Amino acid sequence: MRIMGKERCTAVVLAAGSGKRMESGVAKQYMLLCGKPLIFYALYAIEKSSVIDDCILVTGAEDISYVREEIVARYGFRKVDAIVAGGQERYDSVYQALRVIAHRDGKIPNGDRYVFIHDSARPFLTEDILLRCYEEVKKAKACVAGMPVKDTIKIADREDYAVETPERTLVWQIQTPQVFDASLIIEAYEKLMRDKKQFADKGIKVTDDAMVVESYMGFPVKLVKGSYENIKITTPEDLVIAEAFLGRG
Ligand code: CTP
Ligand code: MG
Repeated sequence: MRIMGKERCTAVVLAAGSGKRMESGVAKQYMLLCGKPLIFYALYAIEKSSVIDDCILVTGAEDISYVREEIVARYGFRKVDAIVAGGQERYDSVYQALRVIAHRDGKIPNGDRYVFIHDSARPFLTEDILLRCYEEVKKAKACVAGMPVKDTIKIADREDYAVETPERTLVWQIQTPQVFDASLIIEAYEKLMRDKKQFADKGIKVTDDAMVVESYMGFPVKLVKGSYENIKITTPEDLVIAEAFLGRG
């Protein structure tokens, strides 16, 4: 399916983490899930998508040639335009990809309009999610996939006492893709990188891209329905759930 008059959309696929919480020998993005490396699944959804035009893949510096040969060439992911080395934190990795996008701006006809930032650790990305995000980013300029939580959520103090119970219908768990107007997200990250030390000194951990846009640009970020299956593979039990989803077809 072709979308009429579509704006240019670039995906940033993040795979430069070390997967500590998985506690496995191999970094989780390369672990096999139903015979294919975890990273395969998100790249496959992007390759098939009518929304995404191309993709910047971020990996560890030492994994670039492995990924180029064993993932990108092997599975024929033609939308991967560049493979770049990530950094220490997730936001450092995002920034490396945004630099590529910022630098090639002007070389690409009409430029990159929207950037879809996605964790390679989320294999259940679908075309429906990409389409919903695309429709929303055109209106809101900043949107992230997520789902309303099913459990009651409590905010705890440092001693693990419950101090607050937010109204459940207003609490969402946030996923990726996180999708932004390209110049908005580039500007937000430039600001973050300039004063990231202040963030660190205050003990604030930047765990997603929406935080950067909310806090640095004061820009409202719309929540878009992802899906309850769009899970992040983080700890060993997530692999069991993922294999069950894949096995169901
Ligand atoms: N990521 C990245 N660069 C980093 C850290 C994370 O590209 N410096 C990527 C991961 O590869 C992953 C996604 O960001 O696809 C989400 O991060 P997370 O699930 O936390 O993965 P890891 O950081 O690898 O795992 P852990 O936090 O358990 O070490
Ligand atoms: Mg992490």
